[in-house]
Amino acid sequence: MKTIIANFKMNPSSIEEAKQLLELYKQEGKKNQNVDLIVAPPFLYLSIAKQFNLELAAQNCFYEDQGAFTGEISPLMLKDLGVHYVIIGHSERRQLGETNEMISKKIQAVLRNHLIPILCVGETQQERKEGKTQEVLKIQLEQALLPNKDYLLQAEKIFIAYEPVWAIGTGDFCDPREASETMEFIKNVIVSHFDIRISNLIMIYGGSVDSKNIDNFLKQVEINGVLVGGASIKKEELVKILAIANSY
Ligand code: PGA
Repeated sequence: MKTIIANFKMNPSSIEEAKQLLELYKQEGKKNQNVDLIVAPPFLYLSIAKQFNLELAAQNCFYEDQGAFTGEISPLMLKDLGVHYVIIGHSERRQLGETNEMISKKIQAVLRNHLIPILCVGETQQERKEGKTQEVLKIQLEQALLPNKDYLLQAEKIFIAYEPVWAIGTGDFCDPREASETMEFIKNVIVSHFDIRISNLIMIYGGSVDSKNIDNFLKQVEINGVLVGGASIKKEELVKILAIANSY
C-alpha cells in the first residue's frame, strides 16, 4: 500500500470550493481504499475537512503548546481537532525564513504531542549543481532530528519527504531512480544515528508529481508514497492519481 499526501498549499480561496474538493477526496478515498490518503488543507479548512472523514495533515505548526504567539497554531490545537500528521520544514516555509533550529523544535513539539511529523528535506538547484546534495540533506536531517533522539525512539512513525527544491512546482521532477537512490541515502543517515525500526520510517517523494509520472515513482521500492502539491487541487488529476496509487 502506498501513501498519497495531498498538499493544497494556500488553496482554494473559498470555503465553498474547499468543500467541493474535500467531497471529491471523500468519494475517491472510498473508491480507492488501497491508498493511505492524507489530506493537508490550509489551517482554516481543517475543521471542515474533519466532517468529510479524511485523514488530515496540517501544513505547519508552532513549537509551543499555548501562549502569547499571535498568529500561530499549536500542535495541541491540531491534536484536539483530530489531526494526526503535521508537515514540517516544507521548502516554501524554509524560503520564508524557517531555520533548521525552528524545524527541530517543531519536530519535538509534534512528537511530544504524539502527532506524526512529515519532515521535508531537499537541496536547491545550486546545491545540486555544486554536488552538495548529500551534504545538505545530512545537515538538514541531523539538525532537525538529533536534538530529538529520545522522542524519536518512542515515535510510532515518522515520515521523511525528499523534496528537491528545484522540482517543487516547476514541472521539472526528479528522475525516479535518482530520487530512490537519494532516499536510500536519507534512510542510511537516519539509521546510522537512531535505533529506529525501518518499518516506522515512511519515505515520501515530492516535487511535480502528477498523473503522468506518479507510476514511475511508486514503482520504486524505496518510495513508500508521494506528496502532491499543484496536482492535488486539480480534480481530474487527483482522480487519476488515486486510481494509479490504488493499484499498488
Ligand atoms: P508540487 O508541490 O507537486 O506542486 O511540485 C510539491 C510540494 O508541495 O512539495
